[in-house]
Amino acid sequence: MKKIILDMDVGIDDTLAIAYLLAHRDVELIGITTVFGNVKTETSLKNSLAVLELFGREDVPVFLGNTCVLTSDTAFIPHEIAYRIHGQNGIGNLELPEPKRSAESMPAVDFILESAQKYGEDLILIPTGPLTNIAQAILRDEEAMKGIGNITFMGGALTVQGNVTPYAEANIYADPEAAKVVLESEVSTTMVGLDVTLRAHIGNDAIRSWGDLNSRKSQIINAMAKYYFTFEYNDPDNLGGAIHDPLAVEAALHPESIRQFLPINLTVETQGPTRGRTVSTMEKLREKKTRTQVCLNLDGETFVKRFADTIREFIR
Ligand code: BDR
Ligand code: CA
Repeated sequence: MKKIILDMDVGIDDTLAIAYLLAHRDVELIGITTVFGNVKTETSLKNSLAVLELFGREDVPVFLGNTCVLTSDTAFIPHEIAYRIHGQNGIGNLELPEPKRSAESMPAVDFILESAQKYGEDLILIPTGPLTNIAQAILRDEEAMKGIGNITFMGGALTVQGNVTPYAEANIYADPEAAKVVLESEVSTTMVGLDVTLRAHIGNDAIRSWGDLNSRKSQIINAMAKYYFTFEYNDPDNLGGAIHDPLAVEAALHPESIRQFLPINLTVETQGPTRGRTVSTMEKLREKKTRTQVCLNLDGETFVKRFADTIREFIR
């Protein structure tokens, strides 16, 4: 059975990614490691614990990750736009009960490395926030990380424009130096960027199909979805938008939904106006054996249907 670690800045679409993953009983979520991005790392941790409790999965351990980007000692401050998309508390300003559990004492990066050693190629990392924890794990022990199955991350934009600047996608823009370490390493990576997530468009009907269930899970997920999927059209009667983070779970578990994987040497621009842009590079060809592929095309209809149906079943 594949072992999965979600590394996240929880986040409404991160929460949907947790639900989507937990609905797959043929893989094991061995932990959630937390990072800043949509919210501060401490909030991502609290949200992870609260959401796991909501889903009745207090058995999944949660780990505190980095609070600062790779090249700084100052805690990351989320951007105003993230608060507008995900709410001030990351979960659409909903009040979930104070989690009964706390984080594990082991730091996130130690857990990632320990799991890499223990499970090797059976381990898949699915980061859906900035790549800071993952970069640190690689910097500490690239050999161990080279042995894992894959890092299937949501982030980047190769053939389309960015969403926080014309060049950069939010997760990469938050810590470009970290993303550069990850992409320039020899660890096997799959980029699930805006190239495909913008084609994973969920519409009003699919979101509304979650609305007629009576469980507490469904009420909360509905309220969160309403908050998140109002952003694009600014019309509460017409919900919709791109499904970012759950698509990374899809690419890891149902790669057949991805119509085209492009093997490519990637790096990240760190200077000037293009800072945070994921770009191809010849450089690595000479120095390293890169194992990166970019998801370029998607069977959006199959994915969105599977996602909407699976979430509906899960929150029932
Ligand atoms: C990414 O940014 C965050 O707001 C989302 O959670 C997603 O991971 C999309 O660019
Ligand atoms: Ca995210």
